[in-house]
Amino acid sequence: MTRTELAAILARPELSDADIVALLGLTDPEDCRMLKEAAFNRTTELMGPYVYYRGLIELSNICTANCRYCGIRKANHAVERYTMTQEEIVEQAVWAARQGYGSVCLQAGERHDEKFIEFICACLREIHVKTKSPLLPNGVGVTLSLGDQPESVYRRWAEACGNPESLRYLARFETSNPELFQMLHSTPGRNEKNLEHRLECLRSLRRAGYQVGTGVMIGIPGQTLEDLCRDIRMFQEIDVDMIGMGPYLRSEGNDLEALGQMEPKALLQLALNMIAVTRLVLGPVNIAAATALQAIRDDGREMGIEYGCNVVMPNLSPQRFRKGYQLYDNKPCLDDEPTQCASCLEKRIQSRGREVGWNMSGSSRRYLRRIGRPNEVKPAKDYTPDGRRLIRLRAI
Ligand code: 5AD
Ligand code: SF4
Ligand code: FES
Repeated sequence: MTRTELAAILARPELSDADIVALLGLTDPEDCRMLKEAAFNRTTELMGPYVYYRGLIELSNICTANCRYCGIRKANHAVERYTMTQEEIVEQAVWAARQGYGSVCLQAGERHDEKFIEFICACLREIHVKTKSPLLPNGVGVTLSLGDQPESVYRRWAEACGNPESLRYLARFETSNPELFQMLHSTPGRNEKNLEHRLECLRSLRRAGYQVGTGVMIGIPGQTLEDLCRDIRMFQEIDVDMIGMGPYLRSEGNDLEALGQMEPKALLQLALNMIAVTRLVLGPVNIAAATALQAIRDDGREMGIEYGCNVVMPNLSPQRFRKGYQLYDNKPCLDDEPTQCASCLEKRIQSRGREVGWNMSGSSRRYLRRIGRPNEVKPAKDYTPDGRRLIRLRAI
């Protein structure tokens, strides 16, 4: 493809499947730069200059599922299992709210037992009560990432959350290719999950009132550019509010090691291309810069922002739990505490011409449009990550 042809594709209001595949496959540095610029500008135009924080609390690594790509799948007996206490979880959420994070994300392995479901309800109720402040009158926004569940469970959690306007759920469908999905989720003699069921979960989340987030892994062994193009079409079909996607990375404890992983440089570029093209096709949705980008290259998440991401998920888990939550190898920040990640990430975001949307709940504009709400306005005052100004405000 010539530069003129590329410029013509980037200027089109709608991309065809052939355009999408061509853009995903770009490797020449100047071509990639053009794609990046188009995606960054589109993001600014549609979403404004802010990057929203979702403080990520990896509350438990116990999982009943066996996704073959995942380092904490049930069959990996080398992992020491943990579950944070309610007190520890609430403490992290309150800390995040005080720092000015508009929302937190509770993530864990998949469990279906009543004890766990009720445990999450109790955490959500307490987080709601304890994070209300003049700046967050409905408490901190909450994103859940707790796997495939029946609609009744989604509804119980939604109710416990108490903040229906900032209620979100993240469940990646991983790949829109049913055979690839099957390969990723079947162990000998068992077929643990199927794509149709995951898509049904996403539909039931929408019915239960959630902003729906999904995503895929990029560079799965056997995946093609055409598969990734269909993933983007699937995002459109579901009419998603947010997307989180990152490179597939090998993991010592996973069950796909023998299949290898794409060469890191090419993998990173493919992931960035996928982010950019998703932005161009999907428009005003939230797109998170996955931590997995940073596992390949130190400034991988910042590159994600340059290619169209507008959300990052700083890790709020206390350092002592981090080694237990390695979905893939080389996960960054294993030796860092939440305070370090928070200030480090703000500098990283600013280095690429964006601002942290302190105290913003950060609903996607696509969602706000759907429910007929105006765009969120940033609170007049900024609150620094150490929370001092917020405390001062409370004292007044
Ligand atoms: N590489 C990249 N992403 C992974 N995930 C799980 N294992 C890996 C891996 N080895 C992602 C999946 C899942 C999310 C919680 O983490 O996409 O949905
Ligand atoms: Fe469990 Fe999630 Fe890992 Fe699958 S990806 S094994 S559901 S933690
Ligand atoms: Fe965790 Fe930099 S992002 S220390």
